[in-house]
Order: sequence, then structure tokens, then C-alpha cells
Amino acid sequence: MKVCIVGASGKLGRYMVQHALDRGYEVVGVCRERSVGKLDPFEGRITVVPGATNDREVIKKAVAGCDGVLAVLVPWGVQQYSTGTAQAVLDHARPGARLVFSCGWHISRDGLDSYSRRLKRIERAARWIGRLTRLLDIDDQIEACRRVFASDTRWTVVRGSDLEEGPSQGLPVWSRHVGDPILESNLTRRVDFALFMVEALVNDELICEAPAIVGCRTPSAVAHAADGGAAALGVSSQRC
Ligand SMILES: NC(=O)c1ccc[n+]([C@@H]2O[C@H](COP(=O)([O-])OP(=O)(O)OC[C@H]3O[C@@H](n4cnc5c(N)ncnc54)[C@H](OP(=O)(O)O)[C@@H]3O)[C@@H](O)[C@H]2O)c1
Repeated sequence: MKVCIVGASGKLGRYMVQHALDRGYEVVGVCRERSVGKLDPFEGRITVVPGATNDREVIKKAVAGCDGVLAVLVPWGVQQYSTGTAQAVLDHARPGARLVFSCGWHISRDGLDSYSRRLKRIERAARWIGRLTRLLDIDDQIEACRRVFASDTRWTVVRGSDLEEGPSQGLPVWSRHVGDPILESNLTRRVDFALFMVEALVNDELICEAPAIVGCRTPSAVAHAADGGAAALGVSSQRC
């Protein structure tokens, strides 16, 4: 399998590169020119296409011939970075390719997520500070995901909880809606977020799903498993 990782030099991106190599995949990584050095540990094992991830020509070149694309969507700046990245991937990936995008719990596919006061406060603050400093544009990340949801591609949007570093605990569990009890712990190891993204490439149950994930060893995930609940709620009723 040949996969393109858009945003390969970031923390999540580098974990995804490693997981993809571990599976024997051929990897093409896209990252900003200034960040190419962060991929030195993978030198000779991956192809790097330097450039902005919202540069359509860069993405067109990078995704050529790829069976899957893993795209990190980040709300940086006020230049429609997320929408530019998502749209370029949607437009240039080959028809039928698996497209897996990352974002956070704050993205809602159907408006049925239930957010704690703390999460609402954090989102309001991020939006306010982002506007003021022009460093962040949360609404652009929301628009990027809306376009993915509306596309007729084989997409998955993986919604990450709060993240922490540390060794892998295994594949995170997921649910369709933030607020579901299994997600209550709101914590995932970043290395496992990456694992879920890479695993999604070959899990057709996740096509046209926006799983909200949480670490499989967190108290809420363990309690749900102890209840006899399904760790991965792969029973699909809401699809494309
Ligand atoms: N951080 C969290 O707690 C959290 C929680 C839930 C979900 N998520 C989601 O996880 C994904 C990655 O999060 P992460 O925290 O692990 O970050 P990350 O992997 O470090 O990714 C950051 C990405 O943004 C790029 N970037 C940084 N500054 C930039 C700028 N000014 N302009 C353009 N690109 C820039 C980085 O590229 P360079 O290498 O070139 O700098 C990198 O590709 C995102 O989709 C995010 O929504 C994060």
C-alpha cells in the first residue's frame, strides 16, 4: 500500500509515518520546507514532498498513485489552511482512495455531540484568542470537515480527545458522539491517535464515520468494556 501523510513533520505526523513504515507501507510525506529536517530519522525510507499542505500543486504531486491519504487538519493562521488542505486532498486523491483526516472533539458531524462546560469554555477561548492574534481559525477547521463530510469520497474524520505523550497502550476505542460514557476520560496517547489513523486505512467500518476516540486503557474505556459494551462501536447505521 502506498500512503501519503500530509503534515508528516508534526508530532502526530511522525507517529503516523512510523506506524505506516511498521506495516511495510510505501510513504510519501508532505511538510513545510522549514520542517523537512524533522523527518531526518526516516531518511532513505520515505519520500518527502516539501511545501505548504494547502498548496494544491504540492498535494497533487504527493498523492499521485497513493491508495490512502492521512491528513492532519490544523487551524493555524487565517489563510484557510485547513480548508485548503482538505480541499486539495479531496480534489487530487485518486478516486476510491481511503482518506483519513485528523481533528479534535470540537468538530461535530451531526450536531448530536454533547460537550461539557469545560470543553465549551476551551473552544470559546480558542476562537476568541485565535481571532485576536490571527494565529488560529477554528471555524476554518470546522468548514474543512464539513467539506469532507459532504464529499463522495471514502473518508474518515478521526476526532481526537485531549492528548498526552507516552508509550502506546493499544488501539483507542471510539464512539459516534462526544458525551457518550465510554469517552468520559477524554485522554488518548498521541502515538495511539496516530495508530487509529493508520488502522482506519484498512477498516472499512470507518468509511464515512467521524469516530471520537479515547485511550483503550482509560477508566471510562475500561468501565465500558467491563460492562460488556463493545469497545469499538462498529455497528453502522449512519454512513455516507
Ligand atoms: N493538541 C491536542 O491536544 C489535540 C487534541 C485533539 C485533537 N488534536 C488534533 O490532532 C492533530 C495534530 O495535533 P498535534 O497537537 O499532535 O499537533 P502536531 O502533530 O504537532 O501537528 C501540527 C501540524 O501543524 C503544522 N504547523 C504548525 N504550525 C504551523 C503554522 N504556523 N502553519 C502551518 N502549519 C503549522 C505542523 O507542521 P510543522 O512540522 O511544519 O511545524 C504539523 O504538521 C490536529 O488535527 C488537531 O486538531 C490535537
